[in-house]
Amino acid sequence: MCGIVGAVAQRDVAEILLEGLRRLEYRGYDSAGIAVTTPEGELKRLRRLGKVQELTDAVHSQPMAGGTGIAHTRWATHGEPSEANAHPHMSGSDIAVVHNGIIENHEALRESLKEAGYAFTSQTDTEVIAHLVDLELTRHDTLLSAVQATVKQLEGAYGTVVMDRRDPSRVVVARSGSPLVIGYGMGEHFIASDQLALLPVTRRFAFLEEGDVAEVTRFDVNIFDVNGDPVTRDVKESEVSHDAGDKGQYRHYMMKEIHEQPVALQRTLEGRIANGHVVASAFGENAEALLKDVKHVQIIACGTSYHAGLVARYWFEQWAGVSCNVEIASEFRYRRSHVFENSLLVTISQSGETADTLAALRLAKEMGYMASLTICNVPGSSLVRESDMAYMMKAGAEIGVASTKAFTVQLAGLLMLVGAIGRHNALDAQTEHALVSALQSLPAKLEQTLAMAEDIEALAEDFADKHHSLFLGRGEQSPIAMEGALKLKEISYIHAEAYAAGELKHGPLALIDAEMPVIVVAPNNELLEKLKSNVEEVRARGGLMYVFADTNAHFSSDDTMKVLNVPHCDEFIAPIVYTLPLQLLSYYVALIKGTDVDQPRNLAKSVTVE
Ligand code: AGP
Ligand code: GLU
Repeated sequence: MCGIVGAVAQRDVAEILLEGLRRLEYRGYDSAGIAVTTPEGELKRLRRLGKVQELTDAVHSQPMAGGTGIAHTRWATHGEPSEANAHPHMSGSDIAVVHNGIIENHEALRESLKEAGYAFTSQTDTEVIAHLVDLELTRHDTLLSAVQATVKQLEGAYGTVVMDRRDPSRVVVARSGSPLVIGYGMGEHFIASDQLALLPVTRRFAFLEEGDVAEVTRFDVNIFDVNGDPVTRDVKESEVSHDAGDKGQYRHYMMKEIHEQPVALQRTLEGRIANGHVVASAFGENAEALLKDVKHVQIIACGTSYHAGLVARYWFEQWAGVSCNVEIASEFRYRRSHVFENSLLVTISQSGETADTLAALRLAKEMGYMASLTICNVPGSSLVRESDMAYMMKAGAEIGVASTKAFTVQLAGLLMLVGAIGRHNALDAQTEHALVSALQSLPAKLEQTLAMAEDIEALAEDFADKHHSLFLGRGEQSPIAMEGALKLKEISYIHAEAYAAGELKHGPLALIDAEMPVIVVAPNNELLEKLKSNVEEVRARGGLMYVFADTNAHFSSDDTMKVLNVPHCDEFIAPIVYTLPLQLLSYYVALIKGTDVDQPRNLAKSVTVE
């Protein structure tokens, strides 16, 4: 969920830690803090409510020298956002801790620590870690063994870094349920919850595994597994294709990433299509052998990634001739589900760290699926490392909390998976060739569709004073309507619902009036005539319609219906193409509403807690 950065170095590290927090702030947070052991042996801590810039200003007004330090951006789960609840949390004046995740048994631990004489200064679950370490240090002679004894008492999810003022030569880190990477420098080492934070100081990382505890000094990294046995984690050159960089000519990362989609699609297709076929190794070296026997696909994801899965269900069943179920990860993991024969488990995740999706994968691996595949944008992430196969999206870092380019790239990856599986099932060579040609036309088609931006910006004015909206679609465009509704909700805070258009007359029609704008996704396919009658149902009740229609659909505007023509495109890629106008609409409405487009309230980019 939030951000951790740590360092053990000779040079002063405060600026490195603050830069790392800045690189993680897109993930969403409410407060931030830093602690450094100074050359005089003092453990100096500063914390601020609000943006990382607030903390940076505080640090610049009272410099923090020192080579060992930790820093954190918090997304509150226990205890309101406040300076007192911001991390690092301390025990006395010696121990400081930062933590991502949730300690589920924190109340019981808090009570027993209070009985042991500890006074709490925050409402957080995290603070129990600091006092536990302090207590265990009375029973163990090293920080490492004290932390190992501490984490054995924790239930729930944690990525945590612990430092002790009395021994600034090391920090100890522990990972269970919340990712941590070790960054390898020259005579210095770093820790972070996401490699992106450390790219200015290193590109060499080792990814801790579940249950790992590591002691990190300037010159050594000693990692121990859940049983306390020494283990080695490979140090790899980061594959993060390029730094998020800045926003360039754009006001927000979201708009930059909307406009990056043609390039992102180009990148994800590169080297993965040859002679009219999808190259199976796009999904991993061993993919061909595994995919040829697939007869059912079970997709698991959250949020926007879930919507991508819903679109793919239509494609798997219509083109590949294999059955497909799609389920929200937080539902899948808490119900007894049936595993179909020769079933492939597919997770879809931009971050590769979404707690519910990761937990669902781990559960599914015990249920008899023939193999697991993840469609993911972050190399080295937990989902990539724990799946049998991985389709690396190569969309480039996505900073805006509202997912845009990741979604369209996910859809392209899924369409390629349809090709790779379908060719062993119902997909004939001619149809596969048509699918592949449609994919190859995508970058140019998306570029063409982005030209709608000006018209959509003008349209956005109509939504400025609205509080509700309805999105309608049919067939594989129904999940696109859901995605459009999610985009509008999450960045403009306007309530938006999506419905399969045929459902309107079964209740939602009662909502229609001049205050309820209705957005319709209307590509020119065999459902168009049905959709036109749904449109008339709305118009007859005074609803304001906004129809995104294929230029060949021959919808025309009038005083109750505004038609925006979307460039004609092939049926295979229509869901991808029709996503862009909806992304643009939500962006421009949010601009008018003045909301925080890149970091909407209450949200985080990677939801690594349940
Ligand atoms: C979408 O705009 C949101 N950012 C959110 O729904 C996101 O798609 C969801 O949290 C899943 O994240 P993931 O793709 O990283 O797993
Ligand atoms: N549960 C901890 C808190 O509420 C950490 C939350 C986070 O991951 O930022 O402080």
